[in-house]
Amino acid sequence: TVHERVDTFHDNDQKPIGYGRMLRKEDPRFVRGRGRFVDDIQLPGMLHLAILRSPVAHARIVAIDTSAAEASPGVKAVVTGAMLAQQGLAWMPTLSNDVQAVLATDKVRFQGQEVAFVVAEDRYAARDALELIDVEYDVLDPVIDARRALEPDAPVIRDDLEGKANNHCFDWETGDEAATAAVFARADVVVSQDLVYPRVHPAPMETCGAVADFDAVDGRLRLWSTTQAPHAHRTLYALVAGIPEHKIQVISPDIGGGFGNKVPIYPGYVCAIVASIVTGKPVKWMEDRSENLISTGFARDYIMRGEIAATRDGRILAIRTNVLADHGAFNGTAAPVKYPAGFFGVFTGSYDIEAAYCKMTAVYTNKAPGGVAYACSFRITEAVYLVERIVDCLADELGMDPAELRLKNFIRPEQFPYKTKTGWVYDSGNYEPTMRLAMDMAGYAELRREQEEKRARGELMGIGISFFTEAVGAGPRKNMDILGLGMADGCELRVHPTGKAVVRLSVQSQGQGHETTFAQIVAEEIGIPPADIEVLHGDTDNTPFGLGTYGSRSTPVSGAAAALVARKVRDKARIIASGMLEVSVADLEWEKGAFHVKGDPGKSVTIQDIAMRAHGAGDLPEGVEGGLEAQICYNPSNLTYPHGAYICVVDVDPGTAQVKVRRFIAVDDCGTRINPMIIEGQVHGGLTDGVGMALMEMIAFDEDGNCLGASLMDYLIPTALEVPDWETGFTVTPSPHHPIGAKGVGESATVGSPPAIVNAVVDALKPFGVRHADMPLTPSRVWDAMRGQARPP
Ligand code: CDP
Repeated sequence: TVHERVDTFHDNDQKPIGYGRMLRKEDPRFVRGRGRFVDDIQLPGMLHLAILRSPVAHARIVAIDTSAAEASPGVKAVVTGAMLAQQGLAWMPTLSNDVQAVLATDKVRFQGQEVAFVVAEDRYAARDALELIDVEYDVLDPVIDARRALEPDAPVIRDDLEGKANNHCFDWETGDEAATAAVFARADVVVSQDLVYPRVHPAPMETCGAVADFDAVDGRLRLWSTTQAPHAHRTLYALVAGIPEHKIQVISPDIGGGFGNKVPIYPGYVCAIVASIVTGKPVKWMEDRSENLISTGFARDYIMRGEIAATRDGRILAIRTNVLADHGAFNGTAAPVKYPAGFFGVFTGSYDIEAAYCKMTAVYTNKAPGGVAYACSFRITEAVYLVERIVDCLADELGMDPAELRLKNFIRPEQFPYKTKTGWVYDSGNYEPTMRLAMDMAGYAELRREQEEKRARGELMGIGISFFTEAVGAGPRKNMDILGLGMADGCELRVHPTGKAVVRLSVQSQGQGHETTFAQIVAEEIGIPPADIEVLHGDTDNTPFGLGTYGSRSTPVSGAAAALVARKVRDKARIIASGMLEVSVADLEWEKGAFHVKGDPGKSVTIQDIAMRAHGAGDLPEGVEGGLEAQICYNPSNLTYPHGAYICVVDVDPGTAQVKVRRFIAVDDCGTRINPMIIEGQVHGGLTDGVGMALMEMIAFDEDGNCLGASLMDYLIPTALEVPDWETGFTVTPSPHHPIGAKGVGESATVGSPPAIVNAVVDALKPFGVRHADMPLTPSRVWDAMRGQARPP
C-alpha cells in the first residue's frame, strides 16, 4: 500500500497534499511577539488572584485566620475552602468521575494543594497577602510510595469519600488471563522484568492561568483560559457552577504548549470564576513555574512488571503485565470514561501474538493529581515502553539481534485491519518497510560492527531500537466519552462571496500549526488557496462543539471533519456550477478549484465564481438555497494507528557514566502527510521530550512528601545541547477510514523515543551484565547500574 498511496497523494516529498511544506500561517504573529496568550489579556478594572498552597503533603486543617490578609493594602477578598463550602463549591468533579477539592476544607492531601486565595489590585499585593494567612495544620503521615498505599496500616488519604477505608482507586484488566497463562506454561522461554515509568511533568512553556469576567447584569461569564478543550470545559462549568451553558463563553487564545497539561479543569480556573462573581470585577490568575510543576497534571507514575513468552527460535507467543498505577491524591486522569487506564491496552505493540493479559491496580497517594496524557494518547507511552523494553530483554535472553526479533514478529501487512488480543483494531500498517528504512538510514550492520570494535577497546557504545504502534484519534463516540460527552468533533466552513473562506474548528491548537494544516486540508478539497482560508478555533461562541485537542486527535478527528465539510460545500458548489454552465451535475468534472464540462475544459467556473453566484443576484438551480457553507459533526469509525521505527545510538562515558545521544533515526508513518515541515517539527519536539524523560526528568518526592522537582533547576528539561541532529524519514500507509488517509503524529515521537534511548543505554552497558535500568538514566543511575546496584526509584 505504501507506494500506491504515495503516488496518489505525493507529487514528491515536498507536496504530500496540495500545499505540502508551506510555512506556518500563524508564525508572523509569533515571531513578531504579537501572539495573544492568556496573560496578555488586560481588562479594565481587572483584579489579580494568588493561591495559598499547602506546604505539607498530608495534614488536617485545624484553623485558618485570614484577618491580617484581608487588612493588607490592595486586598479585595480572601476566600477559604469553608467559604466555598457554604456555596457548595468546595469540591468539583474531575474528568475521571472522582472529586477534587477546589480549596481544601478538611485536609490537605498533597504538597502544593490549594488552601485559600487572595484577590487584590495587583499581583504583588495578592502574593504579599498570602504570607499573612495563618493556617494551623495537624500534620499526618504521608503516603508517597504507591506500594505503601496498599499496606493495611497505611494512612487513609481519601477519608472525604464515604466509607473509604483504604487507598485503593480502581482495578482494571484486559485480555484473557487463562489463555495467557496457558501459553506461558508451554513456552520455551519466559522473561520477566520490573520497570518503573517515573512521574514526569509536561512542563509547557506557558503555565496555566485564566481571566474570568462575570457580568452580574446579564449573568454572562467570559473565561479566557489555558485549555486544550474549551467546549468540554464550558459544559463542565455549566454543570458545576450552575451558570447556564449559553451564558458561558470559554476562550482559549494562543496557548504556549499543552502536552496534556491543559486538559484538566484546575482549581485555579474555578477560583478565578468565583473571584469574579464575588468582586464583580474581571480577575486574572496565572501560575508561576513552581505552581505548575507541583500542582498540575503530572504524567506516568506506573510501576510495571512485564512478562513475555516465546519459542526458543524467537517467536513471541504472549505478553502479560501487572501494573501499579499511582494516581495521586485525586483521580484527575483525563481519559475516555470506559478506559480508566487510558489506551494502555495496546501494550501488545506491533507484534502478532497468541495471548495477552494485563491487570492493573490504581492507588491514591499524597501527590498531585494527574495521570494526564502527556504527549500521548492516554497511557500509550507507558504501554509502548513496556513492550519495547521487554522485547529487548527477550532478545538478550535469546541472544538474538533486537531488530531481527522484531522483524520476525511483526503483524504482517495482509493481516490488517488487525484485531489485537486486547480488542484493539489496528486500521492499517506495513511495518517491515518502516523498520528496514530506519535500519538503512542508520547503517545498522555497520553500527553493530563499530560497537563490536569499541567493546573490544572497553568503550561503551549502545544501539537501541523501538518500534511502536499508537492508537490516536479518540472516539468513536459509541465507546468513548469524557463525562458523558461523546468524543466527536465539529467543523464549519463558510465561503464568502469573493471566494475567501473561514473554517471553524472545535479543536484547539497549542502550537501544532492548525491554522496552517487545516487550511491546507480545506484547500486540497475545495481549491481555495490556504492563504485565503482563515482558521478559527478556541472560542466556544464562534466554533462548533467538539472535544478538543489531546492524544493527537486533531488530525484524525477534526482533520477528517474539515475534509468532509469541504466536500459538503463542494457538493453544493457542483449544483450551482451546473446551473451556471447549463449542464447536468453528472456532466461536470472537478479539478482543483474549478468545475468544467466533461470533454470541454474551456467551459468552466472556478470556486470563486461559484461563491459569488451563491451569494449574488440571479437564480440558483431549483431547490438550492443561497450561500455557500456547511457544518458537520464527525464521529470517527475507528482510531488511527500510526507507527514508527526509531534507532538510537549512545555513547556512555565509562568514567562519569554520562550518556550522550550521538545519533537518533526516526522513521514515522502517519498515513497521508499534510505538511511535512510541521510533521518534522512535531517529531523533533517529541524526540527531545523523549531524551528528557529517558535521561533527565523525574518529579521526585522526599519521604515527607516534599516535591523535589519544583523548579526547572531540579526538574531538568532537555535543551539543544542534550540532543543530536535528528535524522527523520517516513513511510506512508494511509488510514483506510480517514477521508484523506491521515493519521495523527503529534505525539508519536514522545511515545516511541524513550524505549529506544533506554534500550541503547542498556545495550551499551551489556559488558557489565546489565539487563535493565530505570529512567531517568542520569549519570548516578547509570553508574549504579554499571556497579550492579539498583537504587529505589
Ligand atoms: O492533536 P494534535 O494537533 O496535537 O496532533 P496531530 O493531529 O497529530 O497534528 C499535529 C500537527 O501535525 C497538526 O498541525 C497536523 O495537521 C500535522 N499533521 C500533518 O501535517 N499530517 C499528518 N498526517 C498528521 C498531522
